[in-house]
Amino acid sequence: MDTGIAFETGRLRLRQWRDEDYAPFAALNADAQVMRYFPAPLTRAESDAMAGRCRSLIAQQGWGVWVVERIADDAFLGFVGLHEPAAALPFAPCVEIAWRLARQAWGQGYATEAARGALAYGFGRLALNEIVAFTTLANARSRAVMERLGMRQDAEGFDHPALPPGHPLRPHCLYRLPRAAWLASCA
Ligand SMILES: CC(C)(COP(=O)(O)OP(=O)(O)OC[C@H]1O[C@@H](n2cnc3c(N)ncnc32)[C@H](O)[C@@H]1OP(=O)(O)O)[C@@H](O)C(=O)NCCC(=O)NCCS
Repeated sequence: MDTGIAFETGRLRLRQWRDEDYAPFAALNADAQVMRYFPAPLTRAESDAMAGRCRSLIAQQGWGVWVVERIADDAFLGFVGLHEPAAALPFAPCVEIAWRLARQAWGQGYATEAARGALAYGFGRLALNEIVAFTTLANARSRAVMERLGMRQDAEGFDHPALPPGHPLRPHCLYRLPRAAWLASCA
C-alpha cells in the first residue's frame, strides 16, 4: 500500500499532499511575512492551484515538493522538496530544492532538517548530479539554509525571468551543490 510518505527525518515526515493540507497551506501563503520575498501573498485559489500542481507532480513522477509534517503532533508545517523549474532560467535544465514553512515553524531547524532529507533523496534515490537553490538577494533566511546545507554560491547571479526589469526582487543569487560535495559532506 502506498502511504504517500517519501521519507522521515528525526522530527519530520515528508509526504504527498492531502485535501486537508490546502487550508493551512492557504493560511501560510496569505501571511505577508512568509511571502515577503515573493511578488505578493497568494489568494486561496492561487494557493490551492499550487498545492494541486505539487500533488500532481508527485503522483506522476514519484517525487517533488512534499508536505512537511511534524511527527510529534502531525502538524502541517509547509513544504520542502525537489522541483524542475519550468521558467527559462539561465542554468536550466536543473533540479532545485525549495522550502516554505509557516511562520510558527521558523527558528527550529525544520527547514534544514527536511532539506537534508530531500538532498539525500535527490542524490540517493534519484541519482542526481547536482541540486541548485536560488532566491532573491535579500532573502537572508533562505540563503542561510542553503549555506547550512553546504551549498556554494555561484559568482554570477541572475535576473529572474518571471519578474519584470526593475522589480526589486528580480536580482537572484544561485547556490549549487554538486553530488561529489554532498558525498564528501556525508563522509
Ligand atoms: C526560508 C525558511 C524556510 C527558513 O526557515 P528558518 O527557520 O530560518 O530555517 P531552519 O528551519 O533551518 O531553522 C534555523 C534556525 O533554527 C534554529 N534552531 C532551533 N532549534 C534547532 C534545532 N533543534 N536544530 C537546528 N536548528 C535549530 C537555528 O539556530 C536557526 O536559528 P537562526 O535563524 O536564529 O540562526 C523560512 O524563513 C521561510 O519559510 N520563509 C518564507 C518562504 C521563503 O522565503 N522560501 C524561500 C524562497 S527561495
